[in-house]
Amino acid sequence: MIKKIEQINQSATAEINSVKTLDELEAFRIKYLARNGLVGDLFDALKTLDKSDRPLMGKYLNDLRNNAQSLFDKKKEEIESNTTIRQETDDLTLPGRRRWIGSRHPLTQTLDEIKRIFYKMGFEVADGPEIEDDYHNFEALNFPPDHPARDMQDTFFITDKILLRTHTSPVQIRVMEKQKPPVRVIIPGRVYRNEAISARSYCLFHQVEGLYVDEGVTFSELKGTLVTFAKQFYGSSLKFRFRPSYFPFTEPSAEMDITCFLCNGKGCRVCKQTGWLEILGCGMVDPNVYKYVGYDEEKISGYAFGMGIERIAMLMYGIDDIRILYQNDIRFLKQF
Ligand code: PHE
Repeated sequence: MIKKIEQINQSATAEINSVKTLDELEAFRIKYLARNGLVGDLFDALKTLDKSDRPLMGKYLNDLRNNAQSLFDKKKEEIESNTTIRQETDDLTLPGRRRWIGSRHPLTQTLDEIKRIFYKMGFEVADGPEIEDDYHNFEALNFPPDHPARDMQDTFFITDKILLRTHTSPVQIRVMEKQKPPVRVIIPGRVYRNEAISARSYCLFHQVEGLYVDEGVTFSELKGTLVTFAKQFYGSSLKFRFRPSYFPFTEPSAEMDITCFLCNGKGCRVCKQTGWLEILGCGMVDPNVYKYVGYDEEKISGYAFGMGIERIAMLMYGIDDIRILYQNDIRFLKQF
């Protein structure tokens, strides 16, 4: 056995010198070091020896294996360092490989910008469930029982009383139920409407709601806040107007228009030749709403507003089909 060990030791030491590639090195490993290689076989043979001979032979065998292993390790390092040197002499003038990094969705970018502006004015963010009950989505917002917005046409009902929220306004109620005035929040989120799907409308979209309630809040504060927002968002040269409108949960109610920034007010296809773009609905919170949340309607006043994000993003980025915002087509998303 000793003889065999010596033979193997010699041949391994000699053979390693002719190894040049990683493939040849692997062959070396299989021949000597693998479980059923030459060294392994000897370990198996160890069991057949006389008990008293085993410790000494075992020690020789271990030395053999360690030696073969270190021959292998040294060679491996040698070959690998050669390989790196060769790679470094590759053509360094070749252009680098471009790594694609993700980008934020245009809706997220629009929303982030809106949030940033309202944060600076002291608003906090609140949110609420997308699956709502009739009470929060309609009743507590002062929708009379026969109001057309409750119609099956617009609302996705899950049961008689449970539905997908049609606007972010129910979160106004949820915030006021939990918190005493002053309340100053914006509420971004998804809303759902059962409408015919087209380039201009989709079954879901996003809104940002705003709510400010305290003692002595006035309509001019509402205007001031919204004009400040619009000027920061659309640019300070912007012109705006408020038109009377109607929402069950605000009184008085208004809609805010800004000059069409695509044609500068001259009239174009997007603003339907009017020169104006409608950007949001707003108004003073109707005192009836305060009754539902236990606020004292004699003492408390406040305003609310709500705007759709898709429309804003589409106008800003010149997107002419709303559906493309939800398709996650990488060729579209890559542009933002
Ligand atoms: N919730 C209204 C809508 O969906 C918008 C709105 C919000 C109007 C708050 C007034 C106050 O159209």
